[in-house]
Amino acid sequence: MHALAMEAPMEQAFETIEMFRPLLPTAKDILPYLERIDAARWYSNFGPLEVSLKARLAEHFKVSPDNTVTAASATAGLISVLRALNLPKDSLCLVPSWTFVATPASAIASELTPYFVDVDETTWALDPETLKKQIPHIKGIIGAVLVVAPFGKTVDIQAWDKFTAETSIPVVVDAASCIDSFRNVKFGKTAVVFSMHATKIIGVGEGAVIISSDAGLVRHVHEQTNFGYYTRRISIPGINSKMSEYSAAVGHAALDLWPERRKQWVATTEYCKSVLEPVAKKHNLTLWFPEDAVSTTCNVRLPTETADAVISQLQVRGIKARQWWDKGCLAQPAYAKYPHGDLSVTERLGRSVISLPFYCDIPQHQLATVAQTLDQILQG
Ligand SMILES: Cc1ncc(COP(=O)(O)O)c(C=O)c1O
Repeated sequence: MHALAMEAPMEQAFETIEMFRPLLPTAKDILPYLERIDAARWYSNFGPLEVSLKARLAEHFKVSPDNTVTAASATAGLISVLRALNLPKDSLCLVPSWTFVATPASAIASELTPYFVDVDETTWALDPETLKKQIPHIKGIIGAVLVVAPFGKTVDIQAWDKFTAETSIPVVVDAASCIDSFRNVKFGKTAVVFSMHATKIIGVGEGAVIISSDAGLVRHVHEQTNFGYYTRRISIPGINSKMSEYSAAVGHAALDLWPERRKQWVATTEYCKSVLEPVAKKHNLTLWFPEDAVSTTCNVRLPTETADAVISQLQVRGIKARQWWDKGCLAQPAYAKYPHGDLSVTERLGRSVISLPFYCDIPQHQLATVAQTLDQILQG
């Protein structure tokens, strides 16, 4: 029997280690902003809290509020950007399969056909030069490319701007989990969408922020979040993906807390690295943490394609490990019918990447237990 298939000792009691526990501002933190809503009697439709939150988020990213749009979720934000680009109906939207299903779902909701392409083995993201070489071999009209910034890592916006300049294919970046990582990034015309879901590093429950230096596109995205209205004239039919004043209230409270909360994330990340690094060295694991930034996930690539077996072994010991991106989107029945190129890197990642318990205030002893248990499982 393979060592990884061995059962955990039956009689041993294990502490349950949860995969993730969101931590948003408390009712007390949010209350002053809720009181402002009561006073203004303005509940949605770009009210004062949404406008001032947008300005604070713009400041976070070192851009102008004119280059910033908020949305009800990253999925709604991606749809709003794709619709704003006014692409040919049913044209192809090149997407990685190595992502969360919201990425291809937003292409389908924008009346595009997802076409799955493979990611780079080391960056886990699409590569502009590789993609350029693949384009002549893809049959059909390519409307857009959706690039995903994987698990808190940045992508090179300038390189994707160049890709668009050279191919005339617009690019949208799904940077759902990267609101901290992109704070020092040089933005360009390519729109970048950040999630503010409860599981993200600055969470409001459901929400998103979108950045682009293309003022015309930003205006159209804003319109798209509001049924297509900017003035009284609708040029492209839109949806309702506005951020309400209530989400904006949570966003303000989250930004008030952010300097302290970020320090807590940095400390947790540093501790997590300190216990995992020796295990990584011993077993040749790749730890997936963004540089000089914090993110809400801890992903590890095994040198072998034994992710499922390792996860089962962690789970029987009370550690609720899983795979955030599973085996890639194409493995889901709903997506299996869509066209795709070679996806061998994605398939390998699906068989070798495991996601470990990790959140802002996860107890240190639990992180140590996760590292120690992983070590034991890997040595068989
Ligand atoms: C890569 C990616 N894209 C999009 C989303 C969807 O974000 P939201 O929940 O804000 O719609 C997620 C959510 O985790 C994600 O991981």
